[in-house]
Amino acid sequence: MTDFSELIDRRHTNSVKWDVKDNELPMWVADMDFRTLPAIVEAIQERSKSGIFGYEEVPQAYFDAVQSWYEKEHNWRPETAWMIFATGVVPTISSAVRRLTNVGDNVLIQAPVYNIFYNSILNNGRHVLSSDLVLDNQGRYHIDWDDLESKMAEPLTTMMILCNPHNPVGMIWPVETLARIGELAAKHHVVVLSDEIHGDITAPDKGYTPFASVNRINEQNSVTAVSPSKTFNVAALHAATVIVPSEALRAIVNRGLNTDELAEPNSFAIPATIAAYTSGHQWVHDLRAYIEKNKQTVAKFVAENIPSVKVISGDATYLVWLDTSKVGMPSDKLEQFIRQETGLYLSDGTVYGGDGQQFLRMNVACPEERLMDGLNRLKKGIAAAKSL
Ligand SMILES: Cc1ncc(COP(=O)(O)O)c(C=O)c1O
Repeated sequence: MTDFSELIDRRHTNSVKWDVKDNELPMWVADMDFRTLPAIVEAIQERSKSGIFGYEEVPQAYFDAVQSWYEKEHNWRPETAWMIFATGVVPTISSAVRRLTNVGDNVLIQAPVYNIFYNSILNNGRHVLSSDLVLDNQGRYHIDWDDLESKMAEPLTTMMILCNPHNPVGMIWPVETLARIGELAAKHHVVVLSDEIHGDITAPDKGYTPFASVNRINEQNSVTAVSPSKTFNVAALHAATVIVPSEALRAIVNRGLNTDELAEPNSFAIPATIAAYTSGHQWVHDLRAYIEKNKQTVAKFVAENIPSVKVISGDATYLVWLDTSKVGMPSDKLEQFIRQETGLYLSDGTVYGGDGQQFLRMNVACPEERLMDGLNRLKKGIAAAKSL
């Protein structure tokens, strides 16, 4: 069993997450406080030994490793010929938006959703069209199918960005849901870009389904982006894989990635990804168990100690979605207030759109001891906010 309990000091390491004041505890950006898989570190050390870091090609072994990971972990064997290396998921999304849609088109999303989707759409002169997810009183998010279909049917809607599984609400989309989205998208000529960066981090007994694996309709009308960056905590390695089964779509996406200079790896991206995808299975299974335990700790602690907050946590991601609507302060103010009062730095739900202004997002990918510190600060911060 991998030990995830070590408290690693990440201050003063140029970490975006940990660039905070001494008394502050960051639990915001999706970056884990765990050291990565040892085989990744060894692969990087080995690669550095040559001392030569010239331009590199992507070897077949890289694509074979991606294929094998998806086959073993997710019951999907994408052909290696469908894959393109890219330097990140977000750069891929932005590039695909530029190549597969036109200025002024609508790109459909499902808010509340990963805030950077908005940047990829708006920065390229396209419109954001959201079919907001609807929260029921059991704490589950749903798709409003009539709304989704009417927005897909708008003539200017040419792409949908699907977050599969969904950040920030943690939903694993059921196969039937993915099939229905795929059917509607094909009917209305909307290409689906499925961002599957969180796909490896699910509750131990709950896998996610790759969108393109569902059926041939989904396969032929989609662009899937995957990466070891969330799974193995290697975001700064800048390695992702774009999987496009349709030859016609792949040619367009490939041209975009090359035009945007996003298809060339740095010296460590390839050996690190191969190491991750060939020897990381057990490590990821251990990670899933640790995160699940942390999520259960949050649910129990909040239920027992912070009755005005409700945990809306799906079965995927290491991000917990906290309903703070009963606290009586919008999330942007509440996030600032808790940070000032207690040093706990969470994500303000407002940035994800939809109903996010009544939520905070908490990153629980940290040792249990740090999690408990965060939860105690949360309790203190909410109590202070309520007493205003
Ligand atoms: C849904 C989603 N997509 C993409 C990313 C970032 O991807 P990358 O660092 O490969 O650009 C994140 C990071 O949090 C994310 O949550």
